[in-house]
Amino acid sequence: MKEIRLSKSCLTNKEKEAVASVLNKEFLGMGKEVEVFENLLENFFNRPVVCVANGTAALHLAIQCSGIGSNDEVLVQSITYLASAQAITASGAKPIFCEVDQKTLTIDIDDAEKRINKNTKAIMPVHYGGGVGELNSIYEFAKKHNLVVIEDAAHAFGTNYEDNKVGSFGDVACFSFDGIKNITSGEGGCIVTDNEEMINNLKDARLLGVHGDTKKRYSNQRSWNIKVTSQGWRYHMSNIMAAIGIEQLKRFEELSSKRKNLAKTYDQKFLNVESLNRIGSDFKNIVPHIYPIMINKEIDRDKLRANLAEKNIQTGIHYFPNHLLEFFNTSESESLQLSEEIYTRLISLPLHPDLSSSEVEYVAENLLEHLN
Ligand SMILES: Cc1ncc(COP(=O)(O)O)c(C=O)c1O
Repeated sequence: MKEIRLSKSCLTNKEKEAVASVLNKEFLGMGKEVEVFENLLENFFNRPVVCVANGTAALHLAIQCSGIGSNDEVLVQSITYLASAQAITASGAKPIFCEVDQKTLTIDIDDAEKRINKNTKAIMPVHYGGGVGELNSIYEFAKKHNLVVIEDAAHAFGTNYEDNKVGSFGDVACFSFDGIKNITSGEGGCIVTDNEEMINNLKDARLLGVHGDTKKRYSNQRSWNIKVTSQGWRYHMSNIMAAIGIEQLKRFEELSSKRKNLAKTYDQKFLNVESLNRIGSDFKNIVPHIYPIMINKEIDRDKLRANLAEKNIQTGIHYFPNHLLEFFNTSESESLQLSEEIYTRLISLPLHPDLSSSEVEYVAENLLEHLN
């Protein structure tokens, strides 16, 4: 039996032909394809979009262009991909790690509220697995405390919240298009906001701060006589990446409905199983990027993972709590008991659009067999 991968890039000849076409033009940097991809994404979100090199860069630039920097604090859940926290420190600000809600593994607002002080400038809700939790409450909370909301929507491309696409409302949302995300551009990411001033700053900041360079590049030109007034980075997207992204966006319906259906298949199998907890589960609205579950404390996770590995089933753990990492673990940081406990119980099962429902059933049955 072939190995059932935890996640993978799911590509057709369309993406391969699109890349070949860019290679044949011998214009690989940022140009026409990036402009086209950005325009398609603007139609998708019905809002301005800036494409960048990856989701981490999207977060970093969104923080910087929200005017957040040294001495500022950003509230973020501890259980998230390292990128959320590193993007905060990259901008000079400090991540303040918070607990998560046990049902959705999104940020626990009550816990976050305890950690607010005069330096708190922003909250970064992470849309764990593609679900957004109580996003309205987060916006109310942010309004009450005068905080910017920088949504880490890396997992949530295509997810709906109260009939609106994530990214189509709110302050600013950052997406990732890395190889295994809901849609991919190889690597890549984007920032979505309706703040025009921020959009202009983001466009310059992704090109080393060179004023107006985006327009030049879209017409295959470069800026020689430059004006620079702020810190920028080389964070732009390339034509090769955009070419893949354009084809993946055309496949969004197909890719997202496959993910949803597979997650529903797992859910069905785990419906009344007492030794595990499902997370999220609103797969009418959520486009799931991963399928994590929480197993009961008594179950030895390493043994379970080893057993599944023997059956050719890859698993993962999303994620190691960031507050325990040496880099962030300053003397003042305290333990986050709930996050630490949840971490020991998390296991992610294979989920990607190239899986068949019988493969998902095979994974679920082997897991259940072990639990029983
Ligand atoms: C929650 C979260 N935030 C941010 C990122 C960063 O995205 P990228 O890998 O494109 O830099 C990821 C990517 O995996 C992620 O899972």
